[in-house]
Amino acid sequence: MTALFIPLVLILQCCFTATSSHPLDPLTPTEINKARLTIQKSHIGNLPNLTFHFVDTEEPEKAEVLKWLSSSNQKRSIHPRQAKVVARAGGQTHELIVDLATSSVTSDHVHTDHGNPPLTFTELFLASKLPLSHSKFINSISARGLNLSEVSCLPFSIGWYGEEITKRAVKIQCFYRGGSVNVFTRPIEGITMLVDLDLMKITVYTDRFRAPLPKAQGTDFQTPKENSNSAPYNKTKSGFLVSGHKVKWENWVFHVGFNARAGSVISTASVFDSRKKKYRSVLYKGHVSETFVPYMDPTSEWYFRTFMDIGEFGFGRSADSLQPLIDCPENAEYVDGFMAGADGKPQKVERAICIFERYSGDVAMRHTEINVPGKLVRV
Ligand SMILES: *[C@@H]1O[C@H](CO)[C@@H](O)[C@H](O)[C@H]1NC(C)=O
Ligand SMILES: *[C@@H]1O[C@H](CO)[C@@H](O)[C@H](O)[C@H]1NC(C)=O
Ligand SMILES: *[C@@H]1O[C@H](CO)[C@@H](O)[C@H](O)[C@H]1NC(C)=O
Repeated sequence: MTALFIPLVLILQCCFTATSSHPLDPLTPTEINKARLTIQKSHIGNLPNLTFHFVDTEEPEKAEVLKWLSSSNQKRSIHPRQAKVVARAGGQTHELIVDLATSSVTSDHVHTDHGNPPLTFTELFLASKLPLSHSKFINSISARGLNLSEVSCLPFSIGWYGEEITKRAVKIQCFYRGGSVNVFTRPIEGITMLVDLDLMKITVYTDRFRAPLPKAQGTDFQTPKENSNSAPYNKTKSGFLVSGHKVKWENWVFHVGFNARAGSVISTASVFDSRKKKYRSVLYKGHVSETFVPYMDPTSEWYFRTFMDIGEFGFGRSADSLQPLIDCPENAEYVDGFMAGADGKPQKVERAICIFERYSGDVAMRHTEINVPGKLVRV
């Protein structure tokens, strides 16, 4: 116990003084605002339709971060904070670097190659509402004998099928709620709309066929009310320390970040090597890179459904506040997430991440082995 106690104290001194923020810290709301104001005042600020698609910390080089981590508190230089911003203005995509100390744009690259910036929530929302006032769609719905007030339309990314540089567009598919909140259960098949996102207009409308709607009964998935109360709970003590974005647990230290694209990001994770009496770096940076969901159905209404959930929609952008005792146990600590909206202003996801300790005895996998002759092995 005594032997363990000493490194613990050292760690507390090395990593938990409030003075030094970590170079990989996500942007604070103040920094997000500063990046927005700097860009609005810059050469692209007066171009039409300035929208912010991605705003994140422009990280220092890995070697610099590692040097910062390994130097003592007193010798640590304050890292110049920079933001990287992907913005659209005047119909072009700009990749910008903003120096937050001097409030200046230090780099601007116009992206002309394949690929488009992440979709903003604002444009997805606006696109999904277009059909409801589109006369051809209104006719298609009434021809099916459906009630327009019970229709929800959703924007789907369109995939990429060739060398042409495609316009920024989404396809819209609609669903019939008809008393169910399980929107995806009841697709209104046969109708597809293409929306040009820069024009924010339906440019192609197709109504090819009709198909019966699945029934609404029994499709509800909501948590019964009595289980979803937010009564105060007794938080039990966690066995780790969270200070800003730094986490210390047993012989581990790591940094937890958040951005609109990846959601949770774990970086600079080290474990204390008790033989060498020093920390050993285990992971520089880890997050989910992409989830690619190709539906593999060749019909016109389905072939384009090849979602890139992270690159197109964003895990952080799609994050919702975690509910204590439903999503995370009572010994959890919560970290809020911040990101920029399409207007560049900071948005907060309260309790975006939770950190908790759990015993390793819980079942995490099951394996049944049938390849040992004469035996059925169950683990
Ligand atoms: C700006 O947005 C409007 C409406 O979405 C669109 O009609 C116009 O073409 C856009 N201008 C540019 C330069 O992208
Ligand atoms: C259509 O749906 C709305 C909203 O659910 C409802 O108020 C309205 O009465 C419905 N209209 C018809 C004709 O059923
Ligand atoms: C919290 O602690 C109080 C006092 O010990 C107890 O009365 C209450 O039932 C506890 N609540 C929960 C949710 O465990």
